[in-house]
Amino acid sequence: MNWRRLRTFWLTVLVLCLIPATRYYQIDEPLLRYLKGTREVDPLSLHLLGEFVENNLGTEQNADGSVTVRMIAQQYLFVPHCILVPAGVPVHLRITSADAVHALAFSGTEYNVKVLPGTISATRLEFSQPGEYKTVCREFCGAGHYAMRSELKVVPREQFPVLRAGGRGNCAVQ
Ligand code: CUA
Repeated sequence: MNWRRLRTFWLTVLVLCLIPATRYYQIDEPLLRYLKGTREVDPLSLHLLGEFVENNLGTEQNADGSVTVRMIAQQYLFVPHCILVPAGVPVHLRITSADAVHALAFSGTEYNVKVLPGTISATRLEFSQPGEYKTVCREFCGAGHYAMRSELKVVPREQFPVLRAGGRGNCAVQ
């Protein structure tokens, strides 16, 4: 028996087993969710149908003065890249992931929204002061995680553009 070979063999097996163990959120978690069948949205067809098609993303003005923001998190960016909201009104955020688990955070605030593929994270935010906030991903999501950055612009209420019916706002329409 060649002990050296045997040792190398078992070390290799151990390392191969450890790799998926460090990828729980990317492999096991979506797999479990899929097997349980609790998907609210299909991460593979986000761009094609449903709430998260491209022209429905961004900021929508609601009749009661609040806004709804729809976003997609994907490796390694947030879509739209820059979000525009009015200050001092409720912001209903709806976000889903196209791939891995991400976490959307606005630096300088306590908001930190976990985003999982197959589910919609819905939460209510409010920004009282106008300003620019860096939007960062706070959940390790792969090689480009540290570059996953975007922006949130909070403008005074009267400066927020009047959106047409069905229109969506982002920094480009300001
Ligand atoms: Cu997305 Cu880290």
